[in-house]
This record gives sequence, structure tokens and C-alpha cells, in this order.
Amino acid sequence: MSSETAQILVTGGAGYIGSHTCVALIQAGFTPVIVDNFSNSHPLAIARIEAITGIRPQLHECDIADEDAMRQVLRNHEFAAAIHFAGVKAVGRSVSEPLETYRQNVTGSLSLLQSLNEGGITRLIFSSSATVYGGAEQMPISETARVQPTNPYGHSKAMVEQILHDLAAAEPDWGIGVLRYFNPVGAHKSGEIGEDPQGIPDNLFPYVSQVAIGRREKLQVFGNDYNTPDGTGVRDYIHVMDLAEGHVAALQACLQSQGLFAVNLGTGQGSSVLEIIKAFEQTSGQSIPFEIIARRPGDVGTSFADPSKAKELLGFEAQRDLTQMCQDSWNWQQRNPTGYSNH
Ligand code: NAD
Ligand code: UD1
Repeated sequence: MSSETAQILVTGGAGYIGSHTCVALIQAGFTPVIVDNFSNSHPLAIARIEAITGIRPQLHECDIADEDAMRQVLRNHEFAAAIHFAGVKAVGRSVSEPLETYRQNVTGSLSLLQSLNEGGITRLIFSSSATVYGGAEQMPISETARVQPTNPYGHSKAMVEQILHDLAAAEPDWGIGVLRYFNPVGAHKSGEIGEDPQGIPDNLFPYVSQVAIGRREKLQVFGNDYNTPDGTGVRDYIHVMDLAEGHVAALQACLQSQGLFAVNLGTGQGSSVLEIIKAFEQTSGQSIPFEIIARRPGDVGTSFADPSKAKELLGFEAQRDLTQMCQDSWNWQQRNPTGYSNH
């Protein structure tokens, strides 16, 4: 089987980043097979992947921690590699319910690794996060920066990274790519798939687009007294389709190598909260009312990537700019005012 038609197990493939990555995988000639328990996603995402690509990925609705079910999935396919998105990502909830976060992210990943090992699958891409760097002092943040998470979610990602390091050291057959995402935003340009947060969004982009569509009255800006040009927090927003294409590049590298690499996926550009509001207003033609309130506990002032390792190692460079991120978020929001529900 050529690598271009290879079957790739995608855990959490119905979720925000997973669904966009399935599109990018299909467009690169791979065959994604999704395992998802729909704990934070909607089955309609699968039909939407088909609407974009003309190909409906095979779906196994199960939990990655269900080793019997996973054994069955692995028996039914010849996977060349796995991309592991499944997990929980809410930082606030990780502080109030640490055991659940560790169970989902650490125990769940361990279970999956066990199943992959038994099934002889030794190529893996893992969703990590820039949150593992905690409050890094040096900007831009390179992969050599200290791993020092500040909340249980960040610790859960750092723990899985450590497990993967130890696995790669013990089992030379394994090839592992650890991808540390900065701030994924936007949607596929078709508006068929996008981010569909449950309840009140925690993150800036979905909140801003829900204000623009009239679902929320105004944005609360968490602090304007940071040491940044306008005082509001600066982040490295990366278009989710760039991120998805970064996964394809990492997969291609990982299929041809052994050992472990860890790379940042970001643009290297920082934007402030006020810059995001302005860009979104210009794109949508809607005004985004906001008020400045106190800093959000746990937030850092500035975070942006040094993206040079991804370029050198994977030949990957983000292509889409902030205008494109706003346009595609707004298009998704307009076409799906209440996300995937009520369709
Ligand atoms: P998401 O919640 O949209 O997607 C996760 C998917 O995994 C969902 O479809 C969910 O139903 C599924 N899932 C969860 N637990 C499962 C389990 N035990 N078994 C099977 N399926 C399960 O999240 P996302 O934004 O697409 O994030 C994907 C990954 O990237 C996560 O691991 C997240 O921690 C990481 N990450 C996300 C961001 C971000 O800003 N979105 C940033 C850094 C890292
Ligand atoms: C948060 C998480 C991070 C996770 C990332 C993507 C924390 C401390 N960090 O990152 O672990 O990987 O989401 O899911 O929660 N902002 C407002 N008003 C809002 C929302 C956000 O002003 O209603 C500001 C924030 O203060 C920040 C910026 O917007 O300066 C971006 O925030 P957000 O989208 O939540 O991402 P991060 O905090 O960077």
C-alpha cells in the first residue's frame, strides 16, 4: 500500500481540529478512519467532511479507553499510523475536576498506546499544546523552552509527552510527532465544519463571533494592563486548516522516521484582543461591543511561537492570515448560527 492511500486512525476525528484534519488527510490522498465517542462533537461533522471532500470517512463510535472495542477496530483495518486528538481541553474544568482530566487525557492515552502497541502500529501524531510552556519568559517560544505547565490540563499534556518520550526511547520502532498547537481558530472556507463549543465559549474567537451574530450581548476583555502594546493579551492565532495541513506534514515525516520530534504549530505572529475585535468587525461588518474587566486568573500577557523548527523539519509554514481567520469563522457562524444542532 502506498503511503498516499494509507489508512490513518484518527481519534477524536469528529471534533474541531480532528474534522479539519480529516479533510486535509483526504485531500492529501490518505484514508482517515475515525474513532469518536461524540462526548464533545456531533455526528453531522462526518457528513460535512463528506460534503467537502466527496468521501465519507469510516466511523467507529467508541471510547479510546475501551480496549476491547479498540482491539476490534484495529483488527478491522491496516493502519499505517494514528493521529490522537481525543481528550478534554477545558482549562477551568481541569482545575475543578483534575481527576477527570487526568483520566481522560492520561489514562485514555495510555490505553490507546497499549492498543496500538498490541496491534503493531508504531507511528503516532499527538495533539499537545503551547500550554505546556506555562508562563514562558522568552518570546518567541521555541521548543527548547522549559515545559512548566500551570494547570492540570497542561500537566496532562506534559505527562503524555513524557510517556511518549519514554516509549520512543524503549522501542526504537516507534516514530512519534508531538505537535504543540498555539491558538487554533477559524473554519474550513466552505463553512461546512467549524468550532462548535457547548455552552458559553471559553475562548476568544468563538465568543467574538457569537457576539457578532447576536447570540451574546458583549465581549468581556480580560485585562488591559498587560505589558503589551495596547495592554490586552497577545496570542499566536493559527488558522485551523493550516493546523490541519501541519498534521499532514508531520504525518508524512513520521511515516518515514523513527524516534520522537516535538514541534510548535503557530504562525510566529502575535495579535492582541483589541486587534482581534477590530479585524472581526471589519470582516463581519458587525460591531462587537466589549467591556474591559479584570484579568482572567491563570492568563499570561503574551504567547507566540517560534515556528522555525516546523519549517525546517516538516517544510510547514502557516499560509492564512488574520483576515482569512476572521472571514472563515464568520462564514461558519453565519451558516451555522447554533453550530451543528438544529440541522
Ligand atoms: P474537540 O473537543 O472539538 O475534539 C475532541 C474530540 O474527541 C471530540 O470529537 C470528542 O467527542 C472526542 N473524544 C473525547 N474523548 C474521547 C474518548 N475518550 N474516546 C473517543 N473520543 C473522544 O477538541 P479540539 O479542539 O478538536 O482538540 C483536539 C485535541 O487538540 C485535544 O486533545 C486538545 O486538548 C488539543 N488541543 C486543542 C487546542 C484548541 O485550542 N482547540 C489547543 C491545543 C491542543
Ligand atoms: C486557552 C487555554 C489554553 C488552550 C487554549 C485553546 C487558559 C489559561 N489557556 O488559551 O490552555 O490551549 O485556550 O483552547 O485558559 N479573552 C478575553 N475574553 C474572552 C476570552 C478570551 O479577553 O472572553 C482573551 C484572553 O485573556 C487571552 C486571549 O483572549 O488574552 C485568548 O484567550 P483564549 O482564546 O481563551 O486562549 P488562551 O487563553 O490563549
